[in-house]
Amino acid sequence: AQTPDPAITELPPWQQYLGEGVDAAPYGMPSQYETHVVRRNVPWLTADATSSVNFTPLHELDGIITPNGLCFERHHGGVAEVDPAEYRLMINGLVDTPLVFDLQDLMRFPRENRIHFLECAANSGMEWRGAQLNGCQFTHGMIHNVMYTGVPLRLLLEEAGVKTAGTWLLAEGADASAMTRSIPMEKALDDCLVAFKMNGEMLRPEQGYPVRLVVPGWEGNMWVKWLRRIEVGDQPWHHREETSKYTDLFPDGQARRFTWEMDAKSVITNPSPQAPITHGPGRMVLSGVAWSGRGTIPRVDVTLDGGNSWVQARMSGPSFDKSMHRFYHEFDWDGRPLLLQSRAHDSTGYVQPTKDMLREIRGENSIYHNNGIQTWAVNEQGVAENVEVS
Ligand code: MTE
Ligand code: CO
Repeated sequence: AQTPDPAITELPPWQQYLGEGVDAAPYGMPSQYETHVVRRNVPWLTADATSSVNFTPLHELDGIITPNGLCFERHHGGVAEVDPAEYRLMINGLVDTPLVFDLQDLMRFPRENRIHFLECAANSGMEWRGAQLNGCQFTHGMIHNVMYTGVPLRLLLEEAGVKTAGTWLLAEGADASAMTRSIPMEKALDDCLVAFKMNGEMLRPEQGYPVRLVVPGWEGNMWVKWLRRIEVGDQPWHHREETSKYTDLFPDGQARRFTWEMDAKSVITNPSPQAPITHGPGRMVLSGVAWSGRGTIPRVDVTLDGGNSWVQARMSGPSFDKSMHRFYHEFDWDGRPLLLQSRAHDSTGYVQPTKDMLREIRGENSIYHNNGIQTWAVNEQGVAENVEVS
């Protein structure tokens, strides 16, 4: 420190004047220096923005909670602007008493608070045939992890009285796409929530305001937003979202049906293509996230050399069922190129496979459920790139 550092010796502008008072922003926003931290889309992926997707900036986040304004959006017919005063949820079909609830009715049932990830089945779908999108926001950003407050769906079904033949239900959205999915009764009674709050505040319009279905561990498409109706039936409906979409074709022409559970997966968020190493060799913090639709993540392995040697990462933060987990690996970077990968182990003993292992079984026709191991190549300058190693 021969030359004085003006950041220390000079009085900065923010110390020369009084700052803004309280209430300058009644609903607070991030610092003006954080405006690059936003959801982003990939314009060529979809024909227009109403039936489209944008992506959570995973490389800018830490811990396990996704801030509400950064939760990726996936709409099939744009965002429905539902007036809460006119919100209704109907339960009909094979029930003793068909019921209609308004928002206040729902809020008079006992509530639960739970933290769960929502991952679109199409997350990493663009990577099936090879490394394509340059950044974990785009390869893995169709996921968010939020604390939901809601009423167990079981309580509402009990109120209506499910007939013995009622083994399935159809969840229907109030948006222009009127999205519907069949859900087995077992799951509905187990851990589904009819949620109205996310991270403590009312759901955002993008996330289904005022009410969405939470289907823990299962593919995002089943988490119907702007939930307006639940019909109880005795068999699945086989609508669009469970036939022509959200199924994957095997090489022999057979299709995988009802692939509800999200397999264990992980990704290194830092460094990554959008978050290169800018500090040069030396002390280094690698970080990432892992999750499983079947339980918790007790362990994540990382490799710096494309899988020749693995070390156990350090897990940090709470470990909840069907929730995101945070891992770190601290090391001294010698400035040589790196081939970074992470490999999640879930509480059932399942280990995240390589992309080649997946392709061997699933072939090359799949779009959905790509939970293969991701590789980032980091060069001597610290620049990271999406690659594949075999
Ligand atoms: N629900 C309705 N009503 N309409 C939709 O378009 N998209 C589904 C699901 N629920 C959708 C919906 C899909 S494919 C996903 S991945 C999730 O919502 C996305 O939830 P998010 O927008 O909160 O990220
Ligand atoms: Co989806």
